[in-house]
Formats: sequence, C-alpha cells, structure tokens
Amino acid sequence: MTIAVIGTGNMGAGLARMLAEAGSDVVIGHHDPAKAAALAAELGANVEAGGVAAAVKLADIVILALPYGAVADVLKEAGDLKGKVLVDISNPVTPDFRGLVVGHSTSAAEEIQALAPGAKVVKAFNTIFAQLLPVEARKGKALQVFIASDDERAKDAVSRLAASAGFEPVDAGPLANARFIEPIGEMNIHFGFFLGKGPSVAPAWVQI
Ligand SMILES: NC(=O)c1ccc[n+]([C@@H]2O[C@H](COP(=O)([O-])OP(=O)(O)OC[C@H]3O[C@@H](n4cnc5c(N)ncnc54)[C@H](OP(=O)(O)O)[C@@H]3O)[C@@H](O)[C@H]2O)c1
Repeated sequence: MTIAVIGTGNMGAGLARMLAEAGSDVVIGHHDPAKAAALAAELGANVEAGGVAAAVKLADIVILALPYGAVADVLKEAGDLKGKVLVDISNPVTPDFRGLVVGHSTSAAEEIQALAPGAKVVKAFNTIFAQLLPVEARKGKALQVFIASDDERAKDAVSRLAASAGFEPVDAGPLANARFIEPIGEMNIHFGFFLGKGPSVAPAWVQI
C-alpha cells in the first residue's frame, strides 16, 4: 500500500516520517516537486517524491496535509482521484486560529468529498498536533484518532494506518460526523495555544 502525503509542512513532514518509520511506502507530493524531493531525501529509503498528480497516481491512500483553503486548488492539479482513499486532516480555521470557517450544517471533510466525488474521503488526525506525530513524543500512550467516513473499507484502511504508527483508531461514524470532530480539533487548538496547555495535549473519549 502506497501513501501519498500532499504537503511538506508540519503535518506533511511529520506524517510522512511517521508512516515511513512504521513501514509504509510513502510518496510526498507538492506543487513544487523540488520541495517534495528535498523532504523525501531527508526521510530516506522508502520515501519517493514528485508533483501532486505524480504522487497521487502512485498512491492508494492520499493524505491532504494542506490548509483547508488550499485544498480546492490542489485537487485541481491532483488528476484522477476515482477510487482513492482521500484523507482530510484539516481544521478549517479562521486566520487567527480561534474559530472555524465551516461548521454546524457541513464540514471541511464533506466539502472536500463534494469536490472529489469519486474519492473515498476519510476524516482523521485533525485532533493530533504535529508535535505528537513522532512516536517518541507520545511516551508510550496510544492517543486516539477519530476516523469518520461513509466508506467502511476506506475507514478500515486509515484505521490500520493509524494503528501501525501506535495510535488508537476510534470509529467516529459517517463522514457527516466531521461536523463534530472538527470543533473538537478547534477546542484542542484552544487548549494547546490559547489556554496554556501547549501542543502536547490531545482529546480522548473515555468509556466508563
Ligand atoms: N500543525 C498541526 O499541529 C495540525 C494538527 C492537526 C491538523 N492540522 C491540519 O493539517 C493541515 C496542514 O497543517 P500544517 O500545520 O502542516 O501546515 P503548514 O506547516 O503551513 O504546511 C502546509 C503545507 O501546505 C502547502 N500549501 C499551502 N498553501 C498551498 C497552496 N495554496 N497550494 C499548494 N500547497 C499549499 C505548503 O506549501 P509551502 O510551504 O510551499 O507554502 C505546505 O507544504 C491543516 O489543514 C491543519 O489544519 C494541523
């Protein structure tokens, strides 16, 4: 299974490194292929690089590690997404990070599904700060990753990917539940950055 990570920023680099270390074949895509190549060279043997469409073509699972506002344009350069698992990790934040630009009656994930109707969109990882992607940063804790999709096989594939990197995947239901998962990501930003807890916090659902 080949995973394309589109984006080379905090989450793109972190997820690419984490998944490569967990044994996945990773290809990094960026509109500037040189940027993707530089990151792949840093990460090592099982990591390739290319432009966005080249990376998507090689992949079974495509992770969009992009600001929500950039996704529509990047999807235009992505080529054929039919049948691909498309992972939306975004928190569709306002410029000051204190609020969300979509919500209540839709979500970033559902808007992305509408832009890529042939893809199987999965919401995941939006509640995990980039600082907690390295396995050593988690100090033995299996942090929860809330995973929502309308496609059960796509949900299973992303759940296995999360588990391969030491996370506890939590089935969060259909894609429309991203309407509720995205505000949890926003609350996590408030705890981490505006309420003083720092970026080592992550939400968890506790069963008593
Ligand atoms: N950071 C976190 O802790 C965290 C946690 C959970 C979820 N998320 C979500 O993960 C996503 C990525 O966040 P991040 O922190 O990794 O962001 P980031 O560090 O700013 O990286 C964003 C990446 O997207 C690329 N990009 C930006 N605008 C673009 C455009 N118009 N066209 C093509 N590529 C573009 C950037 O390329 P250039 O560098 O060339 O501009 C960069 O590779 C966001 O949706 C965020 O809400 C972040």
